[in-house]
Amino acid sequence: MARIAVISAVHEELAEILALMPDERVQRVAGREFWLGHLQGHEVVAVLSGIGKVAGATTAAILHERFAPQYVLFTGVAGGLAPGVAVGDVVVGTHCLQHDLSAAPLFPRWEVPGTGTSRFAADAVLVQVLTEAARDAVTWLPKLVSAETLRALGLHRPTVHRGLIVSGDRFITSAAESQALREALPEALAVDMESAAVAQVCWDYGTPFAAVRTLSDRADDEAHVDFQAFMRDVARHYSARIVRKALNLL
Ligand code: ADE
Repeated sequence: MARIAVISAVHEELAEILALMPDERVQRVAGREFWLGHLQGHEVVAVLSGIGKVAGATTAAILHERFAPQYVLFTGVAGGLAPGVAVGDVVVGTHCLQHDLSAAPLFPRWEVPGTGTSRFAADAVLVQVLTEAARDAVTWLPKLVSAETLRALGLHRPTVHRGLIVSGDRFITSAAESQALREALPEALAVDMESAAVAQVCWDYGTPFAAVRTLSDRADDEAHVDFQAFMRDVARHYSARIVRKALNLL
């Protein structure tokens, strides 16, 4: 049995996980609710970080100071960047980078001063476990969501990818912005607003971390429309399914 922190940025991503934790009790710190309970035989601390890198970093620091997690998982949605990733696919981050950070020319672009790196590596065991759990979740999607919803969102046979997730304090909602990110960081699979910040805090504390993100949109001109429909109809199913299975495998 391990103590595992599960972070999500928004309510829809965490609600069904909390519903699976019958013995949860809440502690409020810095405007956040930390839900303590059990899931799949592990102690779990589940928390909503709020949106953005600062919200993610604050949450991760509080988690470490108050709850001493042995593993930290981030589960949520992201915008797809690479050509081969589609809405409904799942990305497990092997590395996370802050795409809007630059202390150049003092440090190479994207490098976090004082760390010697721009790409924070996820824990290999967590990546493996989340990949297996995500592969299981995508096969369940047609049973969790109606055929009509799948058609409306244009989801077909979602797949699981592993690779770089980039984070920044911007919701990417134009084709021009996502193209600029693709050109700067061609290996980036997905863009979100928290993973790399949480990865950096976990690196500071030496805690194994990984992020798993379902693609709600393609970070283009339609991103805000796709994002809202996806959150309403699909995201909550995925997060709960992936986290439950991952904890079972850990
Ligand atoms: N999370 C989900 N979609 C996103 C996008 N397009 N940009 C940044 N974060 C996201």
